Amino acid sequence: MAKKSDQKFIDYGERGKYSINNKLNDLTGKEWIKFTKSWFIHRPPRRKDDEILHPAKFPESLVEEFILFFTKENEFVFDPFSGTGSTLIASGNVKRNAVGIELNKKYFDICKKRIKTAAFENEISIYKASSLKAENIIHKKMGEKFEVDYTITSPPYWNQLERNSIRQSGRKKQGLDTKYSEEKDDIGNISSYEEFIEFQAKIFDEVYKLTKNFGYLTIITNNIYFESKLYPLAYDTATSLTKRGKYSWVLKDEKIWLQDDKPLIALGVNNAWVGNRHHQFCLIFRKEEK
Ligand SMILES: C[S@@+](CC[C@H](N)C(=O)[O-])C[C@H]1O[C@@H](n2cnc3c(N)ncnc32)[C@H](O)[C@@H]1O
Repeated sequence: MAKKSDQKFIDYGERGKYSINNKLNDLTGKEWIKFTKSWFIHRPPRRKDDEILHPAKFPESLVEEFILFFTKENEFVFDPFSGTGSTLIASGNVKRNAVGIELNKKYFDICKKRIKTAAFENEISIYKASSLKAENIIHKKMGEKFEVDYTITSPPYWNQLERNSIRQSGRKKQGLDTKYSEEKDDIGNISSYEEFIEFQAKIFDEVYKLTKNFGYLTIITNNIYFESKLYPLAYDTATSLTKRGKYSWVLKDEKIWLQDDKPLIALGVNNAWVGNRHHQFCLIFRKEEK
């Protein structure tokens, strides 16, 4: 007969043991611990077809790992900057429901097509709108009581897309987009850094209002080098969201995505320091109302 303490676990063999008291996810203790390492290397497969049209898509395989940690099966994932829909596709792949918002009609259309083609069993939807009004939009579509279990997203890296000349010249030659859109609500078009930080935080106020208490938020972003100095965008994102009055997120941690498959570019050689930035920050926040 199994001992009393054994009865709290389901043994998944190689995967390890799953505790039936696990409040957050469907992982075994062994899988849980593995994910808590503060850095990871992820080499995504090459992007194909429609996916390359978006200038800053993140890989589904990476998002899936976060979703598996921060949700249980059939819970709801949100992405306020959906782009071509990586978060939504990743959610469907791992049997979660998902909802997204994207401002740019072209990316919204690609995302819609990808969702349709995938024909997931879970509920996956995308809306074309500005996330500055996310609470209103989502509550109108999903009902006033609707709550998000987890958000994972990557906002525009301020105006970097437009200004990053080395990367942009390659895309320009191929006739690919070098900015997200001309829309006035596109936060990637804000020229002042301080204003960008404020508008980005406003969107995460909206996410806060939609999130269940004790739900998590992951933001993938980076510090950026522009006009000979480093703008601490990742750090300012982290601190700005913790100072929003009643919509203040609690900053829990960072995980660093190491991109060791990117080529080194000769930047500032024989002249001055310019780094090859081959990592991204995955910032982890939680809504904690007592
Ligand atoms: C870094 S990209 C996200 C890429 C996405 N993770 C993917 O894998 O395709 C940021 C996206 O935010 C969108 N965006 C910018 N401002 C927005 C706003 N106010 N509301 C909704 N989407 C916005 C841009 O059009 C762009 O597609």
